Amino acid sequence: MLPRAPEAPTNVLTFDPSSPLSSTGTASVLRVSQIMSALSYALDLTEGQPMGHSVRACIIGMRIAKHIGLPVQDQSDLYYALLLKDAGCSSNASRLFHILNADEIRAKGDVKTTDWTRVGWESLQYAISHVATGAPFLERIRTLLRVAATQQRDSCELVKIRCERGSSVARSMGFSENVALAIFSLDEHWNGGGYPDGLRGKQVPLFSRIMNLSQTLEVFWANREAEAAVDVACQRSGRWFDPDLVKAVESLHQAGALFANLGTEKVLQDVVALEPEERQFPATEGMLDGICAAFAEVIDAKSPFTYRHSTGVANAAIAIGQELDMNPQAITFLRRAALLHDIGKLSVSNSILEKPGKLTDGEFSVVKKHPYFTFEILRRIPGFGELSEIAASHHEKLDGSGYFRGYGAEQMSLPARILVVADIYDALAAKRPYRDAMPFEKVLGIMQSEGTQKLDARCLDALITVQRQSSGPDLKELAQAVNHPVITIPKETLV
Ligand SMILES: [Fe+2]
Ligand SMILES: [Fe+2]
Repeated sequence: MLPRAPEAPTNVLTFDPSSPLSSTGTASVLRVSQIMSALSYALDLTEGQPMGHSVRACIIGMRIAKHIGLPVQDQSDLYYALLLKDAGCSSNASRLFHILNADEIRAKGDVKTTDWTRVGWESLQYAISHVATGAPFLERIRTLLRVAATQQRDSCELVKIRCERGSSVARSMGFSENVALAIFSLDEHWNGGGYPDGLRGKQVPLFSRIMNLSQTLEVFWANREAEAAVDVACQRSGRWFDPDLVKAVESLHQAGALFANLGTEKVLQDVVALEPEERQFPATEGMLDGICAAFAEVIDAKSPFTYRHSTGVANAAIAIGQELDMNPQAITFLRRAALLHDIGKLSVSNSILEKPGKLTDGEFSVVKKHPYFTFEILRRIPGFGELSEIAASHHEKLDGSGYFRGYGAEQMSLPARILVVADIYDALAAKRPYRDAMPFEKVLGIMQSEGTQKLDARCLDALITVQRQSSGPDLKELAQAVNHPVITIPKETLV
């Protein structure tokens, strides 16, 4: 999908150059780096990191790469590997939640500042703070003992799931094998103590060595301060990190160049400007479709109960849009919004997503924030203003009773109304932690009971027509026609 080198692209996407997120203020061609850097904010949420972590780690990594004289082609691969380093992070979230029986996002966030390779007070304290935190005392002790006994095997399994998935996501978007392998070996350590293969020294790909060092520096810089970050790099030199790279870090830090301007609002523009000039990729329609489909899979991998939800919503939305005679361009727009509508759900812990019982008010308020995060992530892509609005409106209702903004009918465009109906349809039709999948007629009965005060009647009628037309297209055929895997999934009428 990505060209091996910048060629004269066809069908290049453009955006309004007056956008405040334009890296140059004048260029109107949308670049792959602008899309990937914005979408990396979603990966930060799943890793329990503040939004912007991947972008800042990318800036640090590129500064190291330039300092050590990495060739331009390699810098280009490293750049995308850094932005996509956590692309597999959603795929082990459910497994980690079940191992810990606790909030896995908090656990993922805090493990980044823990030296888990050494048995001692630090790792014990981490375990006490993150294992079965809400369970009764005896159950908690039992879980702690089990986690301690299986820690090495579980860690290896979790890292393996994550790195295999992350490298597969990179490949599916057309990035080079160097990018995929760098992501695969992100958690290997210089002394052979990392995962999944226990690679040692220069067996660990150089990109992975730079990436692991950069992400650690960013986390300690963000949680503590610059000096503490460099101190950790020095303490772990020769164990976690390549000693030569740590020397480069010390040299950059002494020159004041390692963390410069990392805390500014301009960090997103800065990271886009860091992409090597000789290898900048204009985004085409096809690339954007591929990136949306790949991120839909990242979103859906978060929980077995949302497996293929995004593609299911896209299929239902396309069916409704076609039934309403929307033009092909509008259908393409709708499909992209549908594929990315739940990207903010990467911020919700699996302890909530997979809870078999009723959610508490506090848990439900976390769920209700996910369209806000969808908006916050997608609006960062230049030219995605309208798409981010529509994707973030998928839980709104015409009578204003929805969330996250309580929009009413006057604020709901046709694509937004279609997305609401498609999302509820797909959510009800799938199995949930607390109930089985529902047959179409039952789904329909529930949706009709919502009435036209909440759902758009035209969209609902269109969905019914498509489903009941014996000679018309069914949702499965539609999905195949747009080259995405099909199916239906969901959670209550909500997530
Ligand atoms: Fe959804
Ligand atoms: Fe949602």
